[in-house]
Amino acid sequence: MRSRNALSLGVLFTLLLAGGGGYFIGRLASPPTLRSVAEARGVYIGVSTGSGYFEDPRYTELLKREFDLITTENALKFEPVHPERERYDFADADAIVAFAEAHHLRVRGHTLVWQNQLPTWLTAGTWTRQELMDILKEHIYTVVGRYRGRIYAWDVVNEGMGDDARLFENFWYQGIGPDYIDLAFQWAHEADPNALLFFNEHNSEGLNAKSEAVYAYLQELLRRGVPVDGVGLEMHYGVGWGPKADALAYNIRRLGELGLQVHLTEVDFRIKLPGEGQPADAAALAKQAERYRGAMQACLSAPNCTAFVLWGLTDAHSWIPYFYPDWGAALIFDEDYAPKPAYHALLEALQGSER
Ligand code: G3I
Repeated sequence: MRSRNALSLGVLFTLLLAGGGGYFIGRLASPPTLRSVAEARGVYIGVSTGSGYFEDPRYTELLKREFDLITTENALKFEPVHPERERYDFADADAIVAFAEAHHLRVRGHTLVWQNQLPTWLTAGTWTRQELMDILKEHIYTVVGRYRGRIYAWDVVNEGMGDDARLFENFWYQGIGPDYIDLAFQWAHEADPNALLFFNEHNSEGLNAKSEAVYAYLQELLRRGVPVDGVGLEMHYGVGWGPKADALAYNIRRLGELGLQVHLTEVDFRIKLPGEGQPADAAALAKQAERYRGAMQACLSAPNCTAFVLWGLTDAHSWIPYFYPDWGAALIFDEDYAPKPAYHALLEALQGSER
């Protein structure tokens, strides 16, 4: 009996070893992806998207393979999601969240309060301060409440500071006052107490007057007890300009000293194309790769940098040519979904030893 037990234990042990060995060989055999290496480094790797792209299997396969986070590019902005005062349209956002849940991706909700993409019913109306506060509170409660526990981070306020390093006197500022920001964070927190709440900003990623102002403003919000968890640094630049990696790293770390997380929320580095329909040349692509590498290394050098998000999946899905004719090729996969040098630079940075 004892020997039979010993035999079956031996067989079991051998089977386990073989199974485990197979698993490890399988792991070794499958090539690394951004997703697999980012996971090991403790940073989410993401991409902005809309559900209109999900009909293309090439798109969804690449998305699932390489990323573990998606940001709603337009679906949750005020105008698309709340087109009439009494009507919300959650079709696009519901599809994005369902896709994310089916494939184990996190979702960043973008964005609750912004001066752009506001519906005409709102901007053309005449509102008292109280009415506007009621509208905004109801909007935030409805949108954040619908995805409570399912959207893990929100860009609560988007681009609330002007490039003159002062709060932007936008639609909300004029109608409610500067405390629209405090209120928006408070209402978002009430609607989902576990969601991470971000102040998302551009042109303040490195060290300049605006990033000083953002730092001071966030410090002030925290002192007032506003429930803010992080700062989103967008990172829309050209290959030839933008913050140096060490300045970005420094800025991320000092925001960390305030107890804030940082997400790089909208990374892309655009290229001036040589001519109509002409692809970017090898030198520009190499330069672009170094910009991506530097941004990722800066993120990895700071423990509070917890997500790195690209603003679009491939060069066929980028906002750049639409907004800047003559420019393009800003992302890490080309229009045919092939990885560019920038993809390999990100992969190498994630496999490196920083952090
Ligand atoms: O979907 C409509 C289409 O039906 C219509 O025919 C067409 C004609 O104009 O417009 C389409 O909507 C466009 C939408 O993108 C979807 O592609 C809007 O015009 C266009 O304004 C909108 O642009 C978006 C832009 O924000 C609006 O300001 C971009 O996709 C989006 O990538 C961009 O994202 C912003 C972030 O939210 C904040 N940070 C900067 C970033 C880049 O501008």
